[in-house]
This record gives sequence, structure tokens and C-alpha cells, in this order.
Amino acid sequence: MDVRAAPEINNELCVRCGRCVRVCAADLLEMTDEGVEPSGEVPCFVCGHCIAVCPENAITHSSMDAEGFTRLFGEEDRVTVDCLWDLLRRRRSVRQYTDEPVAEETIMQLIEAATLAPSALNEQAWHFNVITDPDQLHRICRRIVALYRSLLKMLEGRWSKLMLRLMVGADAAEQFEEARPLIQRIVDGYEADDDRILWGAPALIVVHSPDEDHTTTESSHYAVGNMILMATAMGLGTCLIGFLTAAAEHDERLQKYLGIPEGNTIDAALVLGHPDVDWIKSVPRRTPPIKMI
Ligand SMILES: Cc1cc2nc3c(=O)[nH]c(=O)nc-3n(C[C@H](O)[C@H](O)[C@H](O)COP(=O)(O)O)c2cc1C
Repeated sequence: MDVRAAPEINNELCVRCGRCVRVCAADLLEMTDEGVEPSGEVPCFVCGHCIAVCPENAITHSSMDAEGFTRLFGEEDRVTVDCLWDLLRRRRSVRQYTDEPVAEETIMQLIEAATLAPSALNEQAWHFNVITDPDQLHRICRRIVALYRSLLKMLEGRWSKLMLRLMVGADAAEQFEEARPLIQRIVDGYEADDDRILWGAPALIVVHSPDEDHTTTESSHYAVGNMILMATAMGLGTCLIGFLTAAAEHDERLQKYLGIPEGNTIDAALVLGHPDVDWIKSVPRRTPPIKMI
């Protein structure tokens, strides 16, 4: 199957409205006397825009399942702006979870929501590794704590501190030094049976992509954003775990535990579960610097 093949137009059904020609970002479609014809040099992005605007169902694509095109809600049923504000305010990093597992079907729905995110050149290069086995989650936690414990130890000596700088780079070493009290708290917590890494969540989703360029990572971040909001709408809690992403960057064994193939980078790690916390209020944020240019 040629995923970059052009769409096929049934000119018997086509009413020459030109909508498909207008929305094609690759300039691949042309209105001719015979109807719409694929042309141009740029390969098809397989974005499906042409199919999504065609009122006559006159367009198909060999690598897009026609059944996968869902009719959108009409104006009257659309999500309201107030509802969306509430969802955005309701989304918080949850660090208290019940023991209830997250159903596999729910996780699959979250991943489907993730894949609706935009991606550079519509590459959709994201991969999702889902870990729900408690033993596996413990093993991951144990490894992260062991890594941070040894890094804390390195901060104690002058030479080992220098070595750390050489190992992870000056910026990462400084960041680590700044985060030292927090990391100490995580390590101490683990020893006291208090999981401050994965927060005792029943599920972990690691998003990774081929480390070809920065756009795959950027696209994964939008996918994770979708997952987080959909999880919130479903009444689930989530928390991004940067401590896992940072630890895995320098540790092949941890990458192996997480099922990351060679040549791929972890873009984000997200824990999720049923929240054991009830938000009553939303919090105000700082006003960011804004420049109208
Ligand atoms: C890139 C990134 C990494 C994060 N890593 C962690 C983490 O390792 N552990 C954690 O408990 N929270 C982590 N968080 C959650 C932030 O602490 C949280 O988003 C922030 O304090 C704001 O709180 P809120 O998400 O509840 O609005 C991370 C957030 C982001 C965006």
C-alpha cells in the first residue's frame, strides 16, 4: 500500500464544487473540464481534508478507511466554550490514585484521542507503550530510584560531580543540582514505601518516536495533550512524569524495561488512574509575558 498515493476521485459523483481543491495543502488536486484530477509534484499528506469536505462522498484514498470518517456534530450539539473552560480548569496533575485499574478499552480510547492531534507533515510517528502490570511498574520505579540515588551520590564528591557534568552535560547537571532536595525526597519516599515517582498510579503510557528530528517529539506532545484532556473528560486523573523521561534518556536498561526500540526517543511519560482527590476550585495562573507584534 502506497500511503502517499493520491486520492481517487469519482467524477461521476463529483459536482465540481471545488472544495477539495481549495483545502488540499499539497496542491495536489486540480479542477479540469473532466472534473477533479490529481496533479502536482508534492506527495499527498494523507490528511483526508479533501474527503472531509466532499459533500458527495466522491473521494476515497487507498490508505484511509472510509468507515473511519465520522460525521461531526452539528452546531447545536457542539461542545460549548464554557464546557471547554471547565475541562481545562479541571485538568490537574493527579498524584493520588485509587487501586482501581484503568480498563484496556479506556486506554485504547485515550490513544485514539491522541492520534487526532496535529503532527508535522501528518507523519503520526508516535508510538504508545502501555504498562499496567504492577510488577513491571514497580520494576520501573525501582530502577528510576536507583538511578537517582547514584546521581545524588555523585553530587557529593568534587570529581564525581565533574564526571556527572561530562556524562549528562552541564545544563542537565545544573538542573539536577537544583532539583536535589526534591530528588532526595523522592528517594527517601521510595524507601518508606511512598511512591513519589509514578504516584502509585495503575497505568503508565510512554510516548516515543523515531529520533529523526525535533518535529516528531513536538507532535507527540500535542498527542499527549489530547490524551490528558480526554482522560479528564472521562473522570480519570493523569500526571506527566518528567523524572522518568529524564532518567530514561541516559539509561538503556530503563529504556528496555519501557520497551523503547533503538533509534527512538521518549517524548513523554504519563501516569493515569482513577483519582483519589476532588478538586473544588481551579487555580489562577501567572499572566505570561505577552507581546502583540
Ligand atoms: C514536562 C513536564 C514534566 C513533569 N514532570 C513531573 C514529574 O516528574 N512528577 C510530577 O509529579 N509532576 C510532573 N509534572 C507536573 C507539573 O508539576 C505540573 O504540571 C505543575 O506543577 C502544574 O500543576 P497542574 O498540572 O496540576 O496544573 C510535569 C509537568 C510537565 C509539563
